[in-house]
Amino acid sequence: MAARSSSFSLLTLLLLLLLLSLSSCAESHPLLLGKFANQKPTQNTYKYETQYITQRLDHFSFSNAGTFSQRFLINTDYWAGSGRSGPIFMYCGNEGDIEWICSMAIVHKAVGMHRYYGESMPYGSKEEAYRNATTLSYLTTEQAIADFAVLVRKLKRKLSAQSCPVVLFGGSYGGMLAAWMRLKYPHVAIGALASSAPVLQFEDIVPPETFYDLVSNDFRRESTSCFDTIKASWAALESEGQKADGLTQLALKFHLCRELNSTQPLTDWLSSAYSYLAMVNYPYPADFMMPLPGHPIKEVCRRIDSAPPGTSVLDRVFYGVSVYYNYTGSAKCFDLDDDPHGLSGWQWQACTEMVMPMASSEDKSMFWKFDYNYTYEKERCRTSYGVEPRGRWITTEFGGHDFKTALSKFGSNIIFSNGLLDPWSGGSVLHNISDTIIALVTAEGAHHLDLRSSTPNDPDWLIEQRESEIRLIEDWINDYNQGRASTFSINSYKQGNASTFRM
Ligand SMILES: *[C@@H]1O[C@H](CO)[C@@H](O)[C@H](O)[C@H]1NC(C)=O
Ligand SMILES: *[C@@H]1O[C@H](CO)[C@@H](O)[C@H](O)[C@H]1NC(C)=O
Ligand SMILES: *[C@@H]1O[C@H](CO)[C@@H](O)[C@H](O)[C@H]1NC(C)=O
Ligand SMILES: *[C@@H]1O[C@H](CO)[C@@H](O)[C@H](O)[C@H]1NC(C)=O
Ligand SMILES: *[C@@H]1O[C@H](CO)[C@@H](O)[C@H](O)[C@H]1NC(C)=O
Ligand SMILES: *[C@@H]1O[C@H](CO)[C@@H](O)[C@H](O)[C@H]1NC(C)=O
Repeated sequence: MAARSSSFSLLTLLLLLLLLSLSSCAESHPLLLGKFANQKPTQNTYKYETQYITQRLDHFSFSNAGTFSQRFLINTDYWAGSGRSGPIFMYCGNEGDIEWICSMAIVHKAVGMHRYYGESMPYGSKEEAYRNATTLSYLTTEQAIADFAVLVRKLKRKLSAQSCPVVLFGGSYGGMLAAWMRLKYPHVAIGALASSAPVLQFEDIVPPETFYDLVSNDFRRESTSCFDTIKASWAALESEGQKADGLTQLALKFHLCRELNSTQPLTDWLSSAYSYLAMVNYPYPADFMMPLPGHPIKEVCRRIDSAPPGTSVLDRVFYGVSVYYNYTGSAKCFDLDDDPHGLSGWQWQACTEMVMPMASSEDKSMFWKFDYNYTYEKERCRTSYGVEPRGRWITTEFGGHDFKTALSKFGSNIIFSNGLLDPWSGGSVLHNISDTIIALVTAEGAHHLDLRSSTPNDPDWLIEQRESEIRLIEDWINDYNQGRASTFSINSYKQGNASTFRM
């Protein structure tokens, strides 16, 4: 989008990115963003100023829970001043550290952090903030969206930019926040681009097998033998683990940094790699989660399939996942407990509101078969945090069932963009809902590919997707400015003739 943003050149832009995010789910559940991303992203070249805003810890109560300092990044290179009503673009930040998320940032050049992630930490430190269910209780999507609304309004006052239109952007969990914020705060933002936002991955709206079936499809479309090898590897891993000395042998075979005391962490590590590979199955080399070649799943399957005859299933999958974990060849050993992006807050979110049922089917999935077991999740969350998940809360708060009927009546100006290779696309909005709630779908796209910086390698379908997004956003801005122009004349009429209208 960056290269194409010249179509906005007549407008004055204030680019503001707010980062919110999704993090890791429980064992055997995919994370929206990666838990095992070992490498630091290459230093990004985005220019921004870091600022802080004081936020109430609890926006929804008058008891004094205290405040915290929310970090945001801002770029005003395109800002020509408030007088020209330029738009403000805000990125709704994801779970995770802010610079890491900046490395995937796009046109917008300012970023606000999601509370409880990175530096936007209540109670002064992560240790205190994550102490128990009481201190964590302000880590909710509603509070995070309210932070963004307060931030936008405060910033607009500071810049004397009250009349400037605000457009929200977000990818993945950030995309969900952008869409939900547009629905909840239509007076704060005129529209939202929600990329790869699985707003329907809740309750019974989509089948719980959707995610893993889509991951599996991505591998099967490269090669059925690759799919079959991975599918066979789980049983091989289990039986190896049962052997005397088996866990030690597995740790050696998979070049792990530490001994294993069960196969579970290794299973999670492998399945995470496949899930993330499906998400970042981009058409050109990228290093969002990890440095990877273009079409990385093709490369994984090539390595799995091209090992010499007689190579064991486990050796094959090791060669395969090494594409994900060690593409640069610099990994000394693999650490299964790594969480370099500080995503652990997602565990809490998954145990409270962000309950996204996941299962794996018998035939369509290359993962081991498992059902969604709410009782198990409930017990796990009670043990980990002393809380019970509220599986129906998100759909109560933001909707989801019969989405089209509900949103076509009252919502507007949201783009749901998706690439069908992305396993989260199955829980997102893939059909147009109304004239202004638009689904832009690409067959070959992956996880929020459209929000990545444009590159010389962008395929035409990606360039077209971004151009469509820009056209729609321009329409929103023009509509807003026209609406304001007519409101202006009504107001000046009233003011000129009846000063009693003034407060
Ligand atoms: C959580 O920790 C805080 C701070 O240490 C403490 O005041 C509070 O009682 C704890 N709450 C629970 C439920 O343990
Ligand atoms: C297994 O290892 C992990 C991490 O190394 C540790 O946290 C856990 O307590 C161990 N479990 C058992 C049953 O020893
Ligand atoms: C990573 O790849 C390099 C080059 O192929 C290899 O020498 C090294 O052993 C690999 N690291 C691990 C942990 O497997
Ligand atoms: C679901 O999990 C609970 C608690 O771990 C267990 O008792 C129950 O057998 C599980 N149900 C199924 C169908 O696996
Ligand atoms: C939704 O409508 C837009 C035109 O406004 C069109 O470009 C797009 O392809 C439609 N999306 C789907 C999924 O049909
Ligand atoms: C409103 O004010 C304008 C300018 O002061 C005046 O020309 C016009 O007649 C007024 N209209 C009414 C309805 O009082």
